[in-house]
Amino acid sequence: MRLAPQPSAQPLRLTVLLLLTAGVITSPVLSSGCPDRCVCDDQLVVQCAGQHLTTFPVNLPLATRQLIISNNRIVELPPLALNYLSDLVYLDCSNNSLTEISESTFGNLRKLAYLDLSFNTLIRIEDRTFGPLASLVMLRMTDNPGLSEIHQDAFAENANLQVLDVSRNNLTVVNITSLIALPALRSVGLSGNPWSCECDNEDLCLWVHLEGFKFQDEGQTVCGSPADMQGRRLGEVGIQLRTLCHQTLGSWDYLFFVVIGFVIFAAGTVSAWLMGVIMVLYERYIKKKDEQLDDDEEESSEMGRTSRSRSDHGNGNLKTSHTV
Ligand SMILES: *[C@@H]1O[C@H](CO)[C@@H](O)[C@H](O)[C@H]1NC(C)=O
Ligand SMILES: *[C@@H]1O[C@H](CO)[C@@H](O)[C@H](O)[C@H]1NC(C)=O
Ligand SMILES: *[C@@H]1O[C@H](CO)[C@@H](O)[C@H](O)[C@H]1NC(C)=O
Repeated sequence: MRLAPQPSAQPLRLTVLLLLTAGVITSPVLSSGCPDRCVCDDQLVVQCAGQHLTTFPVNLPLATRQLIISNNRIVELPPLALNYLSDLVYLDCSNNSLTEISESTFGNLRKLAYLDLSFNTLIRIEDRTFGPLASLVMLRMTDNPGLSEIHQDAFAENANLQVLDVSRNNLTVVNITSLIALPALRSVGLSGNPWSCECDNEDLCLWVHLEGFKFQDEGQTVCGSPADMQGRRLGEVGIQLRTLCHQTLGSWDYLFFVVIGFVIFAAGTVSAWLMGVIMVLYERYIKKKDEQLDDDEEESSEMGRTSRSRSDHGNGNLKTSHTV
């Protein structure tokens, strides 16, 4: 659409056209042409796969709806160039050399439904990376051998996400809190990662156990650690972890039991000792009372000795008569 200025009867219109043309030519990202080594069709598909590109193509048509830049060696997605493509629906960046995606990379791609970042060298995914992709339906991010960290809220705003594939990366744990909240999610690929099957990843294992149908290649979704769990399926260890992680007691629990045990023991000892003391005191009291009674008796018997000796005598008589 190179607009060669033509003699025209409408000078105003010509000026406007000239200005527009100048704007298109001077801005490196605004273009209606087709990038070098790419094929553009009238369906707004730009195909640049396998062209040994090392940089993101320039001169992309503004209205591009599908961009395929797979099988190149592109190291970076420049936010500025990418965000002019606000009609982009489909973006395939697989098999390149992307190591990093910044928070602004996809800042303006609100119509993007398909994104493929597989076969790159990504290391981590930050919080806001996919945040602006409100229409994202399918995200493929497999085969990034160094990808070991995905922020817990990385997909929190992708309410339309249906398919997420993070197979064959280097992931050990994933916080599933925001994932299980995604209303449309129906397929998740987790296989080929060295998953941790310890309590820090208990929720993920339990999720695979409960909703096995959601997980592609569930048979290859296995534990990488600890050593005694290696190779076991996440879905298989889910319940086991659930029991294991909630039965084990923390050091505070043990301390509690020790303290409670000691308190019970001490209370028992003290009450036994108290009982002993009370018994001894009671006995002494009783004895004292008896002695007092005896003394009183003695006193009274001293007064009436004669009657007592008589009765003694009588008793003796009674005894002898009884024995005989
Ligand atoms: C990646 O792209 C290269 C060409 O750049 C190609 O030879 C290779 O087969 C591709 N790998 C995959 C897994 O598609
Ligand atoms: C995968 O992560 C582990 C640490 O969790 C690291 O030691 C290893 O080098 C990583 N592998 C790759 C290919 O980056
Ligand atoms: C998981 O992420 C949520 C927020 O999405 C956070 O509230 C929670 O504490 C995280 N859980 C762990 C174990 O880090």
